[in-house]
Amino acid sequence: MKKLVIFYSLDGNTRLIAETISETAGADILELKPVKEITRNNFLKYFAGGKDAILKAEPELLPLELNSSDYDLIFIGTPVWAWTYAPALRTFFKNNDIKDKRVALFYCHGGGERNFIEKFEEAVKDSKILGKIGFKDPVRNEKEKDVARAREWAVEILKAVDF
Ligand SMILES: Cc1cc2nc3c(=O)[nH]c(=O)nc-3n(C[C@H](O)[C@H](O)[C@H](O)COP(=O)(O)O)c2cc1C
Repeated sequence: MKKLVIFYSLDGNTRLIAETISETAGADILELKPVKEITRNNFLKYFAGGKDAILKAEPELLPLELNSSDYDLIFIGTPVWAWTYAPALRTFFKNNDIKDKRVALFYCHGGGERNFIEKFEEAVKDSKILGKIGFKDPVRNEKEKDVARAREWAVEILKAVDF
């Protein structure tokens, strides 16, 4: 079974979890990078990124080095932006067919998820969802605990694969 972790991360939280899952599951890893990244300025990024998320922007991505169609199980990770997934994932979902894949969803948030998970699940509704897990800003909160939780979760997902 071939395993892949796909993620987008602006500030490193989702990257931390993605790398943990990749190491634990022995999965390849693919970071989605917009050609034009939004500013990391603490104040402005919420406006720029929030607007893109609300308007359902589909930013152009740098060429992907791995092809998701080569994989059986795909872990997909995103930060929560304006109660939905990051625009880079929207571009990915539009341009890549992952239906019929096993997927496992992970995300990082700042404490206001609202109905985020419904939107994330809707985006992969034709795939088989094996599980989902969220982390509250793991880099500056409970980093060690969250890394351990991500490891345990990745192992559970591997056990849940039905082939
Ligand atoms: C543009 C933008 C919008 C955000 N919107 C939300 C939100 O709606 N709810 C929430 O809980 N956190 C929100 N956050 C906080 C991030 O989800 C959170 O800090 C996350 O851990 C960042 O992940 P990253 O470091 O991988 O980029 C937002 C952050 C940004 C930059």
